[in-house]
Amino acid sequence: MNKPSRDMIQKLKVIIPALAVVVLSGCQASGDNPGLEYAPQMYHSVPYEPLTQIKDESAGSWLSNREDGKGEFFNSNVNNEYLQNVRQPVEGTVRRTNNDMLPYRLGKDDIEAAALNENPFDASPEIIAEGKRLYSQFCQHCHGATGKGDGKAGIAYAGVPAYSAPAQANLSQGHIFHVITYGIRRMGAHGSQISADKRWKIARYVQTLQQ
Ligand code: HEC
Repeated sequence: MNKPSRDMIQKLKVIIPALAVVVLSGCQASGDNPGLEYAPQMYHSVPYEPLTQIKDESAGSWLSNREDGKGEFFNSNVNNEYLQNVRQPVEGTVRRTNNDMLPYRLGKDDIEAAALNENPFDASPEIIAEGKRLYSQFCQHCHGATGKGDGKAGIAYAGVPAYSAPAQANLSQGHIFHVITYGIRRMGAHGSQISADKRWKIARYVQTLQQ
């Protein structure tokens, strides 16, 4: 093989560092800049992405093969006047939980207002049976199987009321739900352990023990 000429070596001395600068600059990534992407079509999804909002229609046009002629990176919703991918909910929309419950916005001290709330579940045999099952897990050890306040742990508390006692027998469903949610006086809160739909079902079962 021919020895590379002096001229050739001189050229390589310039070309190699220049190439290195170009290649390495592609490794830079920060903030919103992902750096140079290899096979970018694999990064940019066809469906709208809720957390990116590239509104420039020509972004990535140099490599685009999209049928709508727009740049590869353009990913905004053209049907929305602000090009938003995540749309504002309709005014007056109320979020519901996984179990289709409305959010409970009353605070611990709002117990009088809470007492006026209606139970969203009927007192049907199925709901009462489910309430009973949950009651046996979460309440029975203090309140007792028949709600007389004689659960094994309840005895240690001295003074768990019977649901049928005069002061308890007329407590409304909303009041009971509120008590389960936030606790009352010496009874602790159960709102974080028991989902709202289950608390209402337990209240239906407690109602049967109030008589
Ligand atoms: C660790 C024991 C304990 C557990 C568990 C417990 N309670 Fe209580 N509960 C009490 C005590 C003690 C009181 C009385 C509070 C007071 O008046 O100081 C009480 C009071 C109540 C009252 C009467 C509230 C009022 O306004 O007077 C209701 C209703 C009630 N509990 C329902 C429940 C339900 C339903 C559960 C299960 C989700 C439950 N409790 C779990 C100890 C418990």
